[in-house]
Amino acid sequence: MTKPEERFHTKITTQMPDMGTAPLPIEPYISAEFFEKEREKIFRRAWLEVARGEELPNPGDYVVREIEVLKTAVLLVRGDDGVVRGFHNVCTHRGMAVAICDKGHAKGFICNFHGWTYDLEGRLKGMPGEEYFPNLDRADYGLRPLATDTWNGFVFVHWEPEPKMGLREFLGDMATQLDEYPFARFNHIARYSARVKANWKTFIDAFHEAYHVMMVHRHTVPDACAGQENPYGLLSSARIYGPHHSGSVWVNPAHTPTPSETLAWKYGMSFAPGDMVDLPGLNPDNSPNWWFDINVFFPNFFIDVGPGWYFTYNFWPVSVDESTWEMNIYQLDAESAGQKFAQEHTKVLLRDILYEDLSTLEFAQKAMGSGVLKHLPLSEMEIAVRHQLHTVQEWVNRP
Ligand code: FES
Ligand SMILES: [Fe+2]
Repeated sequence: MTKPEERFHTKITTQMPDMGTAPLPIEPYISAEFFEKEREKIFRRAWLEVARGEELPNPGDYVVREIEVLKTAVLLVRGDDGVVRGFHNVCTHRGMAVAICDKGHAKGFICNFHGWTYDLEGRLKGMPGEEYFPNLDRADYGLRPLATDTWNGFVFVHWEPEPKMGLREFLGDMATQLDEYPFARFNHIARYSARVKANWKTFIDAFHEAYHVMMVHRHTVPDACAGQENPYGLLSSARIYGPHHSGSVWVNPAHTPTPSETLAWKYGMSFAPGDMVDLPGLNPDNSPNWWFDINVFFPNFFIDVGPGWYFTYNFWPVSVDESTWEMNIYQLDAESAGQKFAQEHTKVLLRDILYEDLSTLEFAQKAMGSGVLKHLPLSEMEIAVRHQLHTVQEWVNRP
């Protein structure tokens, strides 16, 4: 065993809360009662990312997001004033959905049950037979809003129409790190999604450590983030910003590219390790041997940023042991056939890597539910896993 001073360590460059070194309890991953507390105290009290503004570029454009953990569907619509607003997709008469399609363009919304109509700002504009509703003031029956705000093109909603903390304040220095990153210059190139029988934290925990890479990803990127100097895939640096955290993934300088990786990097930029691309917000600690940053916005949203690409994950709880997940991949515009090839390489390499990631989750969840495991021992490689649960417990225990 190497002596502690000779070992590779993750450089922590912000204040760290005292999180101890004890193994993690199993209960938060399997208890239905704990899950209900998470719904009330985390998901109904945090800003949640639901869309990119480019998905609804023009006034009248809308998208609907089913958010099972909130037991609602959110209708996001861009008003004539250019502002994106979020409403519960619920008619205030007797609860029919006002938008039936997942996305579209409308001048307003008409409920398919009895024909009440709403404008793009959510005001109730018309009710067939209004004179038969005694003492009803239309102003009281607009669509029910959620607080909605945008940071750097990402649209977030908050269950409370008037949350105590605004979006920017909630995101804090996690957003500051990426304020200058030019997200709008990127094109959406792929979307992957899955529904898995695993707790949302079990799911997330497989995505913010690199200890698993040499095993889980041994067929795709076996030597990418572990090597002689750092044999177990420690992050090169990590930052904790209140409930959020960010880690830089170390890349093995001796990584051997496959022929398709070599070709992709010859003509463009790929997810596979390659050259640095100078974009603000990348590699904030100037770590040597940098591959990409994993930026985790509490509670359930990731923005991973790398050379010429970024991708996002949204992890959505369904129940204590079921979750859905969506990944969206973005890359700088392809201006030649070679760059297009590099984009395709990114898409298929990530597809293969993600199948590998998904393969462990249901086993781990089942084992926790069986009572075989009493706790989860964690290493220094898994600091983000510890911080995620630490934050979850802190929020759940709040009054
Ligand atoms: S439920 Fe919408 S008009 Fe009646
Ligand atoms: Fe992975």
